[in-house]
Amino acid sequence: MHSLLRGKHFITTQEWTVEELEMVFSLAERLKQEFATGQLHDHILRAKTLFMIFFDNSTRTRNSFEAGMTQLGGHAHDLSPDKLQISHGENAKDTAMVLSRFGHGIAIRHCSYGEGNKYIREVAKYSSVPVINMQCDMYHPCQILADYLTIRERFGRNTRGLKLVVSWTSAPKYVRPLSVPQSLILMMPRFGLDVTLAHPPEFELMPEIVAQAKKNAEEAGVKFEIVDDMEYAFKDADIVIPKSWGPLVHTQDKEEGVKLIKKYPKWICDSRMMSLAKKHAIYMHPLPADRGFEVTDEVIDGPQSVVYDEAENRLHVQKALMALVMGGRP
Ligand code: CP
Repeated sequence: MHSLLRGKHFITTQEWTVEELEMVFSLAERLKQEFATGQLHDHILRAKTLFMIFFDNSTRTRNSFEAGMTQLGGHAHDLSPDKLQISHGENAKDTAMVLSRFGHGIAIRHCSYGEGNKYIREVAKYSSVPVINMQCDMYHPCQILADYLTIRERFGRNTRGLKLVVSWTSAPKYVRPLSVPQSLILMMPRFGLDVTLAHPPEFELMPEIVAQAKKNAEEAGVKFEIVDDMEYAFKDADIVIPKSWGPLVHTQDKEEGVKLIKKYPKWICDSRMMSLAKKHAIYMHPLPADRGFEVTDEVIDGPQSVVYDEAENRLHVQKALMALVMGGRP
């Protein structure tokens, strides 16, 4: 196992070079192939422990990390603030210092707007073991690793020149974080994809993230555009990732947020919208999807949808990530 990345925190893809991210993808591809042929990986993190702290619910992240640790020969503790003294106000430093003495990695999901990323960074500051971001208010880097692996499987390793659309969709059940679209616009240009971001005016992303995404695109020599028209965005796309997020930069009031989401019911990915993209275009969504609002059943269950491959790839990229940052010397 490569030792270069041992001990490195994974809070954003931005803090990893393209070469470092490539190491994750190539190992993930190998682990995925070997998993499919029944080869065991239980020597890689044997007897090691990952502490997973979930401030928010999860299906894919929790189970892919836990299954991944089991397959690598270690164990993952499924924790939440109510199972820890965090619920009585124990601070990030004390939590980080103590868990670091017991195990080999700390993974955190904390999506509260304005708090999550700060908390993860505070834990990372004091942790002597790698800290993995399982989604915060700003970033969902593990999801984007899985997304890129899925794109690579469909289009091959040379992804330069592919048109990727990240589009807002309406989903009035609850206000979702900005972490997925923000992580997509940051990382995809670095791998040569042209990115079109589409959203109604009240659903802008954090200005500092958009500025960094533009800089990444300039440095990579690819296109990055922001439009307020879903149909225009979908034209000639190779990959579409339509999903909802909240108007959090505009307002953090939940009721006002839901009202704004309800203002744009036509922002749904249906078969007419898919027909604007290229014939071979793939439909992606990190899930959970709000069927009937974000996407029609016809599209998400249709031949262009790769959502279950995308979900499965969470397992393989995270196994690779954990092997690289938590593996090696005991
Ligand atoms: N995509 C994703 O992170 O799913 P969960 O919220 O179920 O973990």
